[in-house]
Amino acid sequence: MHDQDEKIRKAAQLFLKSKRATAFTGAGISVESGIPPFRGKNGLWTKFDPICLDLGFFLGKPEESWPLIKHIFYDSFANARPNKAHFGLALLERKGVIQGVITQNIDNLHQEAGNRNVIEFHGNSKYLKCTGCQNRYNIKDVHITNTPPSCPKCKKLLKPDFIFFGEGIPQDAYYASLDAAEHSDLFLLVGTSGEVVPASQIPFLAKQNGAKIVEINVTPSAYTDQITDIFINGQAGEVMEKLVQVIFA
Ligand code: APR
Repeated sequence: MHDQDEKIRKAAQLFLKSKRATAFTGAGISVESGIPPFRGKNGLWTKFDPICLDLGFFLGKPEESWPLIKHIFYDSFANARPNKAHFGLALLERKGVIQGVITQNIDNLHQEAGNRNVIEFHGNSKYLKCTGCQNRYNIKDVHITNTPPSCPKCKKLLKPDFIFFGEGIPQDAYYASLDAAEHSDLFLLVGTSGEVVPASQIPFLAKQNGAKIVEINVTPSAYTDQITDIFINGQAGEVMEKLVQVIFA
């Protein structure tokens, strides 16, 4: 049997035995939806200066950072749709095979694919928050054609409701992730390099608490040689489709 197929078969057995499995996703799961990763080949940070997502820079020079943020996260990604990997995780949640998804992504594609229990570790680009009155707006209700956009209510600067460098993790997402890491017996890592703390610590915590780690990635990550029990080398969409087929065979 082909090595990848054998690993998928073994991973499927872990899912069928699992009492509480959690998926943990990164930018790699959305690459097949047309959203480039941050690092590695064609990574966003090889093309743009991450300073545009530095909180201090954004608040100090919104007229400089907002046009870049608009270009990267709104103009170019606006039409991204969930791919087979997102739909696979939605099916696994619907069938009770996984409890939910902890995602570092801000693209809302897990929700659009049908996952209900999505822990957004870095927030969600589909919402904007006012830096003055803290009102939160759906991006559909606020036009960001003229940047920087201002709050319809108090006219202060609007900020995308995702985490910038130098910003704290949303408390509810952080504690929900810790709870999942403490109580899950299986973590499925999909498309993450494991290079950004504190998000990247969650799978390590899960491992410390006895969880088995299954990883899907096109290249080894910071997890692979340290905590991964089954490393399935391949594109998230194709591997997830096969994994779901074997689990429900
Ligand atoms: N299928 C599976 N994995 C893939 C695919 C694919 N088609 N394409 C790329 N990958 C993998 C890469 O090999 C890499 O390990 O996805 C990972 C993407 O890594 P990063 O770009 O570092 O993304 P992520 O791990 O989510 O970064 C974490 O960094 O900049 C911050 O806030 C940002 O949430 C992001 C965080």
